[in-house]
Amino acid sequence: MTVGIIGLGAMGLGIAQVYAQAGHAVIATDADADVRATAATRLRAALERRVAKAAMTAGARDAVLARVTVVDRIEALAGADLVIEAVVERLAVKQAVFAALEPLLWPGTAAGPGAGVVLGAAAVSRTGVVLGAGTGAVLASNTSSLSIAAIAQGLARPDRLVGLHFFNPAPAMRLVELIPHAGSDPQALAQARALTEAAGKTVIQCADRPGFIVNRCARPYYGEALAMLEEGRAAGEIDAALVAAGYPVGPLGLIDLIGADINLAATQSLSDAMGGHPRYHVFSSLRAQVARGDLGRKTGRGFVFRTVAVPAPTDDRPAPPSDGRAIVQRIEATLINEAAWLLAEGGSDAAGIDTALRLGLNFPRGPFAMLAERGKSAVRATLDALETAAPPHLKGRYL
Ligand code: NAI
Repeated sequence: MTVGIIGLGAMGLGIAQVYAQAGHAVIATDADADVRATAATRLRAALERRVAKAAMTAGARDAVLARVTVVDRIEALAGADLVIEAVVERLAVKQAVFAALEPLLWPGTAAGPGAGVVLGAAAVSRTGVVLGAGTGAVLASNTSSLSIAAIAQGLARPDRLVGLHFFNPAPAMRLVELIPHAGSDPQALAQARALTEAAGKTVIQCADRPGFIVNRCARPYYGEALAMLEEGRAAGEIDAALVAAGYPVGPLGLIDLIGADINLAATQSLSDAMGGHPRYHVFSSLRAQVARGDLGRKTGRGFVFRTVAVPAPTDDRPAPPSDGRAIVQRIEATLINEAAWLLAEGGSDAAGIDTALRLGLNFPRGPFAMLAERGKSAVRATLDALETAAPPHLKGRYL
């Protein structure tokens, strides 16, 4: 199979590596000539790190490199079976990329509003050319926050578009969220799934809703920690409780790792998409952190990081607080609540949500496993107590 990649930044290059390691020919491009020029060197360096760790032989490294071709123009992607875009997170740019690509994949199509009318598994272009089912290529977007339906709008073959949301770094993270929009062809979904699973990924299908599974269900992990911080708890105390409970990084340390600015943007975007519901409240402590420029690891100062030192927990980290259990139970109750809302909305199942949070965030267990462990009435009691005590701006957060 041939996989096309558009956009060779952090994500695109990692995704190219994933499919090349799985034995596929990869044809990749980027709008920026410097990015194209450095792509092979960056890929070699990434593979070299695997060779150094004995995770890959030098021969396999060379074979992977030989499978990736960086091209100047998207015309070279004409014969691809799957094309994934990982360009900047702007709807108009993503739509323009697919509009330029479609006539190459399906000659005779012209993208534009109403260009294609979906008729079951087939489509008819404006020029009347019948585009049968199985006419090859699948289009995929790696967007993390845009709606797949919005990207599909105006495409000649919206039925061939799905979301394939990889996590960073793509070669290391096993999870990929697969997102159909209402008009996605099940065959395109199946093709995208099969190719990606064969590349070693765990593919979890979810609905085309803001934040998909992981970025949405992760919100309370950060948010509830920020709520406690604003109530006067120490950042180190909150994080130590979560680390003691098996989480690889505490919530505030994770914000430091991701960058408070990135976390704020993701939270704000979800809050906007959800109509400002208090479950997605944007905490003023997070805004203040960004306003001060204390972004975390990248600036050397964050909620828990005070230098650019390695953020991994060390042995001299503070001992878990005596009521660490209450901290963990509070955060987990809100994680369970968010996952339950997502489940009730349809499009994903409990096992998929659990797997997504374990693989996407390295949580020790998913929210439904937490629920089974603690029991529904205990979780409800925690949420009810939080709702009763909630300040006015958080009323409704724990329902
Ligand atoms: P990046 O900024 O590292 O790379 C984007 C690349 O796209 C740049 O090299 C840029 O030159 C190129 N580009 C821009 N417009 C283009 C066009 N019209 N045609 C071809 N190339 C174009 O961004 P990154 O982080 O790799 O993100 C890419 C996409 O992946 C975004 O949609 C982002 O939301 C998504 N994503 C990012 C994750 C992350 O942790 N960085 C995780 C999951 C998804």
